[in-house]
Amino acid sequence: MLGGSTTCLQFAEMVHLFSIFAFLLIFRVGINEAYQEPTNCLGSDGTDLGITCVYVNADEYCPPNYYCPTYSYSEATLYMTQLTEFGCTVNANPTTYNTTVQCPCTAGFYCPTNTGQPNYCPNGYYCPVNATSVAILGTPPNGLGAWGSIIIECPSGHFCGRGQVEPFVCSGFGDCPAGSTKENRLKIYIVAVIVLILMFSFSSLYNWRKIKTREARRVLSESSASQLKTTGADATQSRLKERTSAASNGSSGLQAKLMSGGASPGPGSSSSSSSSGAPEALDIEFDDITFVLKDGTTIMQGVTGRFAPGRTCAIMGPSGAGKTTIINLVTGKASKTGGQVKVNGAKLENLKKYKKLIGFVPQEDIMIRDLSCRQNISFSARYRLPASEAANMELMRSKIDKCIRDLGIWHVQDSPIGDERTRGISGGQRKRVNIGLELVADPLVLFLDEPTSGLDSTSSTALCGMLKEIAVARSMTIAAVIHQPSVSAFESFDDLLLLGKGGRTIYHGTIAAAPDYFASIGFPVPVNCNPADFYLDVCQGQVVQERGSFASETSSVSALTSNTGFRPSSVNKASAAAPQNGLLFEWPLLFDMWEDRDDGHEGWFKNPHKSASNLKDKSKRASQFVRQSFDKISKQLSDTGNSSPLSANGSGQSDSSPNFLVVMCSVVVLYFKKLLEQLETWWVFQKEALSALCEGKGEDMRDTPSAFKQFKLCFKRASTQAWFPVSSFLFEMCTHLLVGMMFSGSAKQLYYEGPFPDPICFITPGAFIKTCQEPQDDAYQQTTSLMCFAVLSLGISSAAAIFGHEQVNYFRECAAGLNSPMYFIAKVIANIPKMFFSSVFFWWTFSSQFLNTSSQADMFGYLFLLYWYSYGLGYLLSQFVNIRYTALLGIFISLLISVKLSGVNPSLQEVNGYQPPVQQLPWYISGPRWVQEGFYTTQVDYYDSIPNGPYEGDPYIDINSGLGPLGYSTTRRYVAYTWLFVLGLIMHILAMITMAFGHRLKKL
Ligand SMILES: Nc1ncnc2c1ncn2[C@@H]1O[C@H](COP(=O)(O)OP(=O)(O)OP(=O)(O)O)[C@@H](O)[C@H]1O
Ligand SMILES: [Mg+2]
Repeated sequence: MLGGSTTCLQFAEMVHLFSIFAFLLIFRVGINEAYQEPTNCLGSDGTDLGITCVYVNADEYCPPNYYCPTYSYSEATLYMTQLTEFGCTVNANPTTYNTTVQCPCTAGFYCPTNTGQPNYCPNGYYCPVNATSVAILGTPPNGLGAWGSIIIECPSGHFCGRGQVEPFVCSGFGDCPAGSTKENRLKIYIVAVIVLILMFSFSSLYNWRKIKTREARRVLSESSASQLKTTGADATQSRLKERTSAASNGSSGLQAKLMSGGASPGPGSSSSSSSSGAPEALDIEFDDITFVLKDGTTIMQGVTGRFAPGRTCAIMGPSGAGKTTIINLVTGKASKTGGQVKVNGAKLENLKKYKKLIGFVPQEDIMIRDLSCRQNISFSARYRLPASEAANMELMRSKIDKCIRDLGIWHVQDSPIGDERTRGISGGQRKRVNIGLELVADPLVLFLDEPTSGLDSTSSTALCGMLKEIAVARSMTIAAVIHQPSVSAFESFDDLLLLGKGGRTIYHGTIAAAPDYFASIGFPVPVNCNPADFYLDVCQGQVVQERGSFASETSSVSALTSNTGFRPSSVNKASAAAPQNGLLFEWPLLFDMWEDRDDGHEGWFKNPHKSASNLKDKSKRASQFVRQSFDKISKQLSDTGNSSPLSANGSGQSDSSPNFLVVMCSVVVLYFKKLLEQLETWWVFQKEALSALCEGKGEDMRDTPSAFKQFKLCFKRASTQAWFPVSSFLFEMCTHLLVGMMFSGSAKQLYYEGPFPDPICFITPGAFIKTCQEPQDDAYQQTTSLMCFAVLSLGISSAAAIFGHEQVNYFRECAAGLNSPMYFIAKVIANIPKMFFSSVFFWWTFSSQFLNTSSQADMFGYLFLLYWYSYGLGYLLSQFVNIRYTALLGIFISLLISVKLSGVNPSLQEVNGYQPPVQQLPWYISGPRWVQEGFYTTQVDYYDSIPNGPYEGDPYIDINSGLGPLGYSTTRRYVAYTWLFVLGLIMHILAMITMAFGHRLKKL
């Protein structure tokens, strides 16, 4: 892009030079009588000015500060009026036709003695007229209207480019000796480097101090912990024991009730509701939960069960069985397609109403990785605990301390979490923080998805034990997905929900009653075997079934298998030597066995819908399944060269070809059935989405801190994130600074040369009058396009990262009751200083080489508002697009709006002509369009303000002749400011609305 800009500028320069050459060539043809070979122009002191002068014929005389174009008698008389207006003295003799025209040298031009054509005031000089000339040269001689421009060397402390009428003042950052052509602002870079070095040093010092403080705190905590152990541990232990046993006594009754299928406590029952109306415990029942994807894939099939208060339930099953899905469906994080959920006996669509009372520890460690363990846990506690508790600083501190201690992460509490690239705490410690985020909020229900993965066996046993204690002590309902628990960890749970592949229940009941059940279906738990491992092996068909028990306990399935002549157990035994064939036991039969279980057995979850018709359905399904299994086995056997068991026992059906019409009808019916099923699934999804959209806020179950307090909390956290780690902040600032520097370098040759003054255009041949009246060197638009592109890309990337990187964390916090708009506003406000400093750093280096003719405040104003606009755009984009793609997409959008929608090509004048006017809208909502106009007009406005034109008091350059074709107006400068601000604000508001109302399911 930079190369492009330079090429662009060079190209513009070449075109300009070419036009000047062409102009001079033709001009020479037009006035060839006066033409004298150009020679080098000399200054008044005889120095070579480095520019070419065109002089009059040797026999003529033209005084200094005037130029004398050659006109014939007829031309001179024809143009007399205009020439007089330009201050020219015309002497046309009607007898001899001798004609001389003498015009005052135009401002910004230099006319030494005998000048035929005025020359641009050379670099390092400025060429004013009027008052200055009179002051220096005195009154012009008789017959001359006014002094033409005089040439003055650029004074020290100033610099003068070509064609200037007054010197630019040096900024103080550069050295400007007398005769300077531009300001060398190297000092800006030196100061920038010094500032950065200072900031990096400060950051290192800060980090060093932080490490020291953390170390000191760790040593202190270790010594106080050991003291605590020796003095108070015994007392605490006995208190906890007392509490646990008391609660266990209470919950054993509950256990009996649950597993014998007793009625759940109703919403108004004393055990589940406090006097204030908020429940004290949540009893969750789910019935026939089904989940079918849009493509028709069934993920969950009729899972029924219960998570009771004061109890812990282990959810187990092979990978992909649907353990995470069942939690998501029960909590409402995914929309179930069938079944219902009841809380304390009341039917609910999902648990949104209780979101502040529910803790969900996701499978992934979702937290803000740049913050420390303590900062993460503390934030969670402060926005989720009841307002009365959150206001009590002492109480909060002790709660947070306790949680951190209980989880065994006290010594790393101040360490940043870290991620795959930045080393922070260990994976196991991160897992504990993940749990701590929920535990510290005192939820009534806690779902944990694989909390023990990544922990060593001792730690996971301790964790499971702790969950049990908490459940009992606080009447909390806990359900945890666990993988490979040790025997002791497994046995610390009360209940088990065992799911098989395809999302169906294999067992649900107490852990204690599980061995009975598995023995009853032919899988007695072997001695010295981890029951959890054994059950999983059974689930996956890796265990040989004991035939006798199977036949006796599962009569219906037994009957079905005998009808088809298929004996799973006999196949098992036949192929026991080759279990890898998958013929040991077809595990899906376990689902039917569970559905046909003995409902009276204590500890097994009672089937609430078991009825004759239900049984019939199940039998039908089992029959179908057995048939399918049989076909599969037959195929396997025939593949290995054995004959089909069907033909062996002769019970197979014949493959008689059915009538063609019947087949066709069946196909059509099947097709429409499938279509209907898909329509039904589609409708269910639409209904869910609609109801999610229309759902009200619901009853508030916990009086958490007010919106303003949450804003304060979020603001504090967002400010920490914006500034720390300081190295990240500095890195970002360096990027803005360097990009500004690059663009400044590419724009350093940029120089505005307005249209030639009228007297000069007047003597220009007709074909070049238009060119003459346009700005001669004007690359502001190209520079501004590049600047817009740079700022937009930088701003969008920076802003997208602010929300994009923690979007999942936001979903988690929102699901727990965080106020979305407050979170958004706090983050935006906390990042305004960052946006400000980004603009400062960009502006700082951008203005170093770029010859800015507007005020620095104006230039900074446009840059800051452009950053504001691009941040808004970045925030908005990050709501829709995955953070991985926002930077890429940001580059595309930046390019699109800074090149195509900036009003350069097509020009604004063309755009303003588009009909119907709605077509002009894209340009009106494009920030670069307003920056272009505002930036351009403030830059050229400078020239308009120099009253040094050919006529007394006129501006030196008529900028309007340049502005007109572009469609710009100097009066719209403040409109540009306002629009930029408003557009940025609209982007911010849209981003906030999208954030608050988008991804609703993920926030449940
Ligand atoms: N929204 C969805 N879109 C597509 N597939 C899904 C969706 N939700 C769940 N699944 C599929 O459902 C099955 C169960 O997924 P789930 O995450 O619940 O498994 P899991 O039992 O938790 O497995 P793991 O132990 O590996 O975490 C998987 O095959 C998964 O790909
Ligand atoms: Mg999972």
